[in-house]
Amino acid sequence: KKLSIIGMPMDLGQMRRGVDMGPSAIRYAGVVERLRNLFDEVHDLGDIPIGRPEVVIDEQSNLRNLHLVAEKNEALSKEVDQAISSGSFPLVLGGDHSIAIGTLAGVSKHYKSLGVIWYDAHGDLNTAETSPSGNIHGMPLAVSLGIGHKMLTSVGGFEPKIKPENIVLIGARALDEGEKELIKEIGIKVYTMHEIDRLGMTKVMEETIEYLKERTDGVHLSLDLDGLDPHDAPGVGTPVTGGISYRESHLAMEMLAESKLITSAEFVEVNPILDDKNKTASVAVALMGSLFGEKLL
Ligand code: ARG
Ligand code: MN
Ligand code: MN
Ligand code: MN
Repeated sequence: KKLSIIGMPMDLGQMRRGVDMGPSAIRYAGVVERLRNLFDEVHDLGDIPIGRPEVVIDEQSNLRNLHLVAEKNEALSKEVDQAISSGSFPLVLGGDHSIAIGTLAGVSKHYKSLGVIWYDAHGDLNTAETSPSGNIHGMPLAVSLGIGHKMLTSVGGFEPKIKPENIVLIGARALDEGEKELIKEIGIKVYTMHEIDRLGMTKVMEETIEYLKERTDGVHLSLDLDGLDPHDAPGVGTPVTGGISYRESHLAMEMLAESKLITSAEFVEVNPILDDKNKTASVAVALMGSLFGEKLL
């Protein structure tokens, strides 16, 4: 078993600077050391070059950094694609959540029916029309469904990357009106904080695993650290109170490890500038440990 770590130091999908340092923060929190014993080989492929581009708001669409987000995600998709082709499990370190556009473009061509677990306070199902912010990090799930600006939906050269019935949202508690409508219209499975409180994380994950096992031939985990409660993961740009706890998150990762369902993953929105002594990157690394099969005993 081989692991390829790919850094995506991109902050162009939103307005809070610092999330471009997420991959460094996660590396300094010891990701390679932590995962080394869980794989035969761990390769850190370094970062996708982003540079220091100027912020440009696209005039026709009002989307922040549209052209650059598309271009950089194209580069990420190639790297992810290559990692899978070489027999590696791709683990992408973000970066704001707009990088899921590239990750999913690279992953999706390897599966007939890819599943996605979107672990997040948000739906990231906005389009230019429904977005309250113009920030592309609020859009990658819609984009991967083929809904949104052509320049984004066409990354990787094909669309859509995923089907609505292959998606499970976990931890949602800040959905915009347009996102709620879209969820109902196309039928996406959602466990909001209400269901997590009511059923407990064990049941939520049992149902999620059962649901995806039947219909998919690979499952991508897209974990936004703001899915966790800000108390446990303060270093994020769009914190929302009342989130998933550290313990519940470990449980979720351990159950995914047991299921052997996950075939690619990304951990996004770690912003060390907003963090408390790199706590959020450390949480990310600890959760990766559980996801890849670390045992307490
Ligand atoms: N829904 C809000 C927006 O569209 C917030 C999105 C936050 N997304 C994220 N990946 N943190 O701007
Ligand atoms: Mn344009
Ligand atoms: Mn997100
Ligand atoms: Mn989020």
